Amino acid sequence: MTYQLPNRPRRLRSSNAIRALVEETRLTIDDFVLPVFVTEETKPSEISSMPGVFCWPVSGLGDQLRNWREMGIRAFALFPKIDPQKKDDQGSEILNRNALVYRASKSIKDLNLDILLIADLALDPYTNHGHDGVLNADGTVDNDRTVEILADTAVVCANAGFDWVAPSDMMDGRVGAIRKALDDSSFCDTGIISYSAKFASSYYGPFRSAINSSLDGKTLDKKTYQLCPSNFREAKRELVLDFEEGADVLMVKPAEPYLDVIRYASQNIDLPIAAYQVSGEYSRIMAADKLGWLNWENCALESLVGIKRAGADLIFSYFADRLAKRL
Ligand code: PBG
Repeated sequence: MTYQLPNRPRRLRSSNAIRALVEETRLTIDDFVLPVFVTEETKPSEISSMPGVFCWPVSGLGDQLRNWREMGIRAFALFPKIDPQKKDDQGSEILNRNALVYRASKSIKDLNLDILLIADLALDPYTNHGHDGVLNADGTVDNDRTVEILADTAVVCANAGFDWVAPSDMMDGRVGAIRKALDDSSFCDTGIISYSAKFASSYYGPFRSAINSSLDGKTLDKKTYQLCPSNFREAKRELVLDFEEGADVLMVKPAEPYLDVIRYASQNIDLPIAAYQVSGEYSRIMAADKLGWLNWENCALESLVGIKRAGADLIFSYFADRLAKRL
């Protein structure tokens, strides 16, 4: 018995060949930025809550970068894990031209690998309280003094060879101030990826323990600057402001819980939209795999294709190198 159906959508799913022809969203290695942790320690160490992700000493970074480049990865964002003794309440190490992350960028640039090197621009790796800004006497974050430091830091980053800076602090007015500082120092070609819609997320925990920016990696409260997870309209406002202040790429972060924001940005703002699949999004998949409950590779690909389908043009992901072979 055969129904006379006007539509049989399953025809488009009936073989590998037809499925491949009609696949609407495809991930490629060119979509990815790999976040890279650098440490002052002398040996690479695996981050316990992020199996498969390591902190790299500057001395081993060159070989590792060459490996990644051979896998096809061409964009990297550096995150420093600072010696706790170098942290203070002002995060002053961030302006030290010989600080870890600037040494790392100089050594990478010397390799001439034809890559894009991005500096994550924020104070939290450098402050002993873990906030992304300097504090007032009452413990609140001082917006304008923080912006001034970030603008100066952007110039230090550009001098150290970074191609782009990515302010991840969520202070008001920082994109405009950073653009001006870079232009005033003739770094008009240094681009800005702005963490525009960055939510106060619980998924940052593994990252914070990785760089020791929070004692237990969880309880640091950044709600006076990062967005409330329920607020879509406020996220739109932040995206528009960074567009107007001169950002080159806008980012939504985390990624998977905020696909609506990614979709909105990609359909309404004529700039490339980045999404950051953050540490906790990585760790939850790896943890379930460890327990035998999920297959990490398939779940990671599904999560990432969803992020791209929502409208992300580029994706920061800790899976980038581990999935390179499947892309
Ligand atoms: C802070 C910063 C954070 C991340 C990137 N930059 C954490 C935070 O805001 O506390 C998180 C990245 C991740 O979780 O993978 N400037």
